[in-house]
Amino acid sequence: MGALLSRAFAAVYDPMMGGVERAVLASVRRSLLRAASGRVLEVGAGTGSNLVHYAALAAEVVAAAADNDNGAAAAAADGAAPADGGSPAIAAAPAAAGGTGRPPPPFTRLVLVEPSPLMRRQLHAKLDALAATAPALAAAVEVADAALPHLPYPDGAFDTVILFLVLCSVPNVAAAVGEVRRMLAPGGRVLLVEHLPAHAATAPVVAAWQARLAGLWAAVAGGCQLRRETVAALAAGGLDVGGVTEQSWSGIDWGADLFLTRVAVGEAHTDEREGMAPTRSKKFTIMASSSGVHQWPFSASFVAGCAGSKSSSPAVASPAGAAIPR
Ligand SMILES: C[S@@+](CC[C@H](N)C(=O)[O-])C[C@H]1O[C@@H](n2cnc3c(N)ncnc32)[C@H](O)[C@@H]1O
Repeated sequence: MGALLSRAFAAVYDPMMGGVERAVLASVRRSLLRAASGRVLEVGAGTGSNLVHYAALAAEVVAAAADNDNGAAAAAADGAAPADGGSPAIAAAPAAAGGTGRPPPPFTRLVLVEPSPLMRRQLHAKLDALAATAPALAAAVEVADAALPHLPYPDGAFDTVILFLVLCSVPNVAAAVGEVRRMLAPGGRVLLVEHLPAHAATAPVVAAWQARLAGLWAAVAGGCQLRRETVAALAAGGLDVGGVTEQSWSGIDWGADLFLTRVAVGEAHTDEREGMAPTRSKKFTIMASSSGVHQWPFSASFVAGCAGSKSSSPAVASPAGAAIPR
């Protein structure tokens, strides 16, 4: 029965998320992933929904380099072209480096971990498709079959860890956060999108349905916990969550309301950034509706988890916060 449900979840995942992707998630992915650099690990990469964004971002970096330095840029171009349409200059860039196995900038390594063979099959299909437009990236991506909380990488192996809708499903979230922290280099960052439990005070109907359906949902949705306070788990694991904003994506459709009424989006950091006080982040709400996605300031207060910061001025909004479509 469990295997059948896993198969069904993997099969329906992309169609099920289509409306959410179009309304808000694709844009949030792109905005957040702008901060990914260096050695990058994506955990629970699923069907490979981020691949198109990695390709586009790599192409943007190459295009910027071409603007700055025509000669050097040609050498750096590395064959990356935007998979979703983009700069013709990049599409025309030489693909000579396509077989080097080295990813184009801004990445020096890109590892996608995914434990479900059914999800991985779809991921590989997207990678194959990407080979036509971003050969260097497609050749350099490493796909691994592994699961939190035990990943086969040494301490400090990554500069960026990406967790998009993943910590809800891991069996032991505290151990998973510990493992993520172990693999991060000093000054490393976690880029995250994670759903959180609705508040009974502000969304009583959704909170009540989450309480009723939590067990059933976990059974049909790969172990996903509707009532998990993931940001609190990251903070308890010693990460600075000052760069995480709280959003609401309600109104896309009834199914999305069940788990996206409260969403955490942003960056968490290791606390080893020398000389840097923890960042403060502005809380805001995004409301999706049939007429589009709306964003407005939610509160002038700041996330409580920045206790200890000596700075009294708010940080610049997180990448996702800065670029949510209106
Ligand atoms: C809701 S899907 C999200 C997929 C993808 N991150 C995205 O943004 O579309 C959750 C993914 O986490 C994976 N997952 C579940 N438990 C995991 C674990 N312990 N370690 C790593 N990945 C896990 C699942 O196989 C699934 O692909």
